Amino acid sequence: MLRAVPGSNDIFPQAKEYPFREPVFRHIVRTAEEVLRNAGAQMIHTPIFEQLEVFQRGVGLTSDIVVKKEMFVLEDRGGRLLALRPEPTAAVVRAYNEHGMKVWPQPVRLFTWGPIFRGERPQKGRYRQFHQVDYEALGLADPLLDAEAIALMVRIYRTLGLRNLEVRLGSVGDPEDRARYNQYLRGLLMPHADRLSEESRARLEANPMRILDSKSEQDQAVLAELGVRPMLEFLGEEAQAFHEQVCRYLERLGVAYTVDPSLVRGLDYYVRTAWEVHHMAIGAKSALGGGGRYDGLSEMLGGPRVPGVGFGIGIERVAIALEQEGVVVPPDPSPTLYLAPLDEPAKIEALALAEQLRPRVYVEIGYTPKSPRKALEDALRKGAQYVGFLGEAERTRGVITLKHLQSGEQREVEPFQLHSLFEE
Ligand code: HAM
Repeated sequence: MLRAVPGSNDIFPQAKEYPFREPVFRHIVRTAEEVLRNAGAQMIHTPIFEQLEVFQRGVGLTSDIVVKKEMFVLEDRGGRLLALRPEPTAAVVRAYNEHGMKVWPQPVRLFTWGPIFRGERPQKGRYRQFHQVDYEALGLADPLLDAEAIALMVRIYRTLGLRNLEVRLGSVGDPEDRARYNQYLRGLLMPHADRLSEESRARLEANPMRILDSKSEQDQAVLAELGVRPMLEFLGEEAQAFHEQVCRYLERLGVAYTVDPSLVRGLDYYVRTAWEVHHMAIGAKSALGGGGRYDGLSEMLGGPRVPGVGFGIGIERVAIALEQEGVVVPPDPSPTLYLAPLDEPAKIEALALAEQLRPRVYVEIGYTPKSPRKALEDALRKGAQYVGFLGEAERTRGVITLKHLQSGEQREVEPFQLHSLFEE
């Protein structure tokens, strides 16, 4: 028997694990959609694959996704290299440019949700196909948009009922600030290279900042011993002023946050604002979501200068946090009417009647004839309000026997009466 690939999951109502229960998943998506639409963002869906270059240039050659070869790359028949999207931002910026959104009133605020693919080692909360809600505000380099994005993200979590959140806000500065910081880190860490993990040693040249985010205890011990100065101390004047403005705006909005002076994000495109939202349930090294500003991304994709800021929310991670906090997801509605055929000829009668009622009423039917007692059990299990029996006796009199399950009250009704009964 064939099975799903490790790190990929089926999402359906009876799934054992909370993140893969379809109603939970749907609740998260719908809540996010409501919050974002209410804020005027428009939905976009980009393809789940793009030319490899979109992501290679987008997320950057020193990002984990590229360095650790986490992209799922495919070759089409023409020998073109494609990649399953390892994150949506580069694709959204590609679409913005391709459809000339730069001439629209700015900012253009878009959101999307769907599957994301990263070839990581699967574990709880870390999958090879996972799902994100993604929001992007493009075309305006104003700290107001950074604050709005953070506030919207927090609003989504709060509307879902999450409480134990921590917003960690940092700044990765402008590219020249980061270059200075990387220079500083190289100088500091080079003499101790032999004590760093292999992965960190490899990063020393291209992107030493990522070493700060290393999960290796050995690396963290070296960093602690050296007393590394944080990125925030290396901000240029403009990046510093921008960061302070974002902080002031968040205070004005009443959005709680902590400044993380050495926040590091896994993607290369970030400039200035960067943040992550953490939750106790998920553990120290992984986040419920993250975001930041990426003013240079469009140019990396061969487009014009298009500043932007946005975030991604890990849907499965949010589900794990909801479970941990004991948040109950609203149950799906149950049927108003369960129509139970008691013999073979009644099957099509039940379906025909259901078809008539269904545009307005939630009707389920029994697919195999059963005894009234068994049919009643089925109706109860489905949580139906009414059960309607259709058998030989009903057929000869042109009626159905209708029972209200809560009161037990039972009567015969003619099919045309059902419309008015349920529409009240
Ligand atoms: P990211 O931090 O790479 O950002 O991913 C966002 C969120 O996706 C993470 O915080 C986490 O909740 C979830 N996530 C990441 N990897 C996995 C995985 N393997 N399994 C399950 N969940 C995962 C981005 O992707 C950026 N595009 C966010 C952004 C939008 N920045 C600006 N605009």
